[in-house]
Amino acid sequence: MKTMTDLDTLVTQAREQFAQAPTPNDLENAKARFLGKAGHITELMKGMGALSVEEKKTRGAAINQAKQAIEAALAGRRQQLAQAELNAQLQAEALDVTLPGRSRGLGGLHPVALAWERIEQIFASMGFDVGDGPEIENDWFNFTALNNPPNHPARSMQDTFYVDMNDKDGHPYCLRTHTSPMQIRYATAHAKHHIARVKAAGELGENIPFPEIRVIVPGRTYRVDSDATHSPMFHQFEGLWLGENVSFKDLKVTYLNFCKAFFETDDLVMRFRPSYFPFTEPSAEIDIQFASGPLAGKWLEVSGSGQVHPTVVRNMGLDPEKVIGFAFGSGIDRLAMLRYGVNDLRLFFDGDVRFLSQFR
Ligand code: PHE
Repeated sequence: MKTMTDLDTLVTQAREQFAQAPTPNDLENAKARFLGKAGHITELMKGMGALSVEEKKTRGAAINQAKQAIEAALAGRRQQLAQAELNAQLQAEALDVTLPGRSRGLGGLHPVALAWERIEQIFASMGFDVGDGPEIENDWFNFTALNNPPNHPARSMQDTFYVDMNDKDGHPYCLRTHTSPMQIRYATAHAKHHIARVKAAGELGENIPFPEIRVIVPGRTYRVDSDATHSPMFHQFEGLWLGENVSFKDLKVTYLNFCKAFFETDDLVMRFRPSYFPFTEPSAEIDIQFASGPLAGKWLEVSGSGQVHPTVVRNMGLDPEKVIGFAFGSGIDRLAMLRYGVNDLRLFFDGDVRFLSQFR
């Protein structure tokens, strides 16, 4: 068995001190103690001066071996410390690749838009065209043409916002208070050809049949009104059905079928309640009542309606002796509230995602 030499001891010491160096910096200090200019190995080399040539050979080789062993130990420890540092960094910056991603979330249509789309689809399925008109109206279409002249007390039913400007005919602009002005605009535009033909035919024109008009016009409307069930901006859709033989019976069937489709139930009844609008005569509010569900047993007002007033028919350029029909105007927000069980209209306009995401 080989006895422990001073060199073996030195190598063992070096290994121990390297192993105990906690950081690369400590390791470099330890290295200096053994391999540096004033380190143990250098000291041993210097001590060889007194030896004979033979002794120098063996001693030199032994010192060299020890030096190489120490260098190997140093390299091993350096590698270890570098690895430890890398591991610590990897751990600190750990990514859990199994975590679900943060999704952006899918948007969805607003409940009022959903109701609006539904209304268009249902009326389209009953043969109604879908129209669109200006939100900044003039006083003529919004009121006067609808048999509601300036200073008529019925104007106070619908206070609105005026624009400080008149159109070329001197009518002040206002934000429309209802979609009813579209009755005039649509009928005038769509009966143009008929009117021209009747005019050209003179007396014979009486025999030219009136091409039916069936349209709904959804859109934004404005009034000076704000509480849990009224908002200064709200949504309506106008309905207009004009022909030579259109009656209240048609209105009742049309509107009842619409309600059944909109609320997806046959379990409801409808009633006309006498009312007043300048542009219809007779006029009626339409109420519905559900037989079951949370709203069961209550009469719910859903629409104004009536037979189009002869003056309005005349303002469309048509002959009230020949053309007859009905109109209705319903609140889209109101219908959406009933359909979705929302009790405060303001929820629709707050933009709170917790509320809106329920309709996705
Ligand atoms: N324009 C009326 C309103 O907003 C509703 C209505 C439309 C009534 C058509 C009768 C006919 O109150």
